[in-house]
Amino acid sequence: MTQRVTVADLIAMKRRGERIVMLTAYDYPSARLLDEAGIPVILVGDSLGNTVLGYDTTIPVTLADMLHHTKAVTRAVRQALVVADMPFLTYQVTPEEALRNAGRLIQEGGAQAVKVEGGGPIIETVARLVRAGIPVMGHLGLTPQSVHTLGGFRLQARTAGAVRQLIADALALEQAGAFAIVLELVPAPVAQAVSELLRIPTIGIGAGPGCDGQVQVLTDLLHLLPGPLPRHARPYADLAAVVGDAVRRYAEDVRRGAFPGEAESFGLPRDLDPQTLAAVIDEFRMRQE
Ligand code: KIV
Repeated sequence: MTQRVTVADLIAMKRRGERIVMLTAYDYPSARLLDEAGIPVILVGDSLGNTVLGYDTTIPVTLADMLHHTKAVTRAVRQALVVADMPFLTYQVTPEEALRNAGRLIQEGGAQAVKVEGGGPIIETVARLVRAGIPVMGHLGLTPQSVHTLGGFRLQARTAGAVRQLIADALALEQAGAFAIVLELVPAPVAQAVSELLRIPTIGIGAGPGCDGQVQVLTDLLHLLPGPLPRHARPYADLAAVVGDAVRRYAEDVRRGAFPGEAESFGLPRDLDPQTLAAVIDEFRMRQE
């Protein structure tokens, strides 16, 4: 049996200079494919609000949504470390409430760790979760749950003051016991400097190649949703086109009577010969006349 990836493995990977790969997954089939492909960290991101549930932001995502999708992912995953996002307002109110909610993602959801967004105000909460035995991943830079405060999905750490704050938050998260930090939409040189200052790994998205690892949203990587991708994403497939083509060909086959064919159909079983079938059908025909 292959051993599950642990948070200690990720810190050791940073020490060895091995880059960490993380991808989001939201359901059983995609989680299974990622795990079987050897992806070591799977994030059940609250980006599922945008990618699966059709919201404009992650703000409407609830703990019930996260539990539902985390359970589907953890049923599939044998090897990867599964990190579940804590949704908006499930960890910002009090550390005790955060502990109860994080506990549900671990205990009921089956995740091995949780991710929370932000620095200063939630440091005490991060320490509380870690003391309770819950591994915590931080998330700095563009924190999508604060999109209305940040004024949009735009590059962060644009001034010396903002860079100072980012570094202070990253160090405080490390000090509080976080095992890794996602850096989202941060200038590459800033993300590299933060990565060098920390002992725990940084996982970048739109933060350049100097991070200790990279994370992408699976639907961007596969280009599953039609339309433009964020600048930081690289499509490794064009599934929107593949799926569109497949369903159009299926519809065409149904309309022209080419699906199902013999291979997809079932003949009469041994216990039902054609004469008996004809007799049964005749009974009904006669009743209709
Ligand atoms: O929710 C998510 O998918 C994330 C990644 C963008 C890091 O937080």
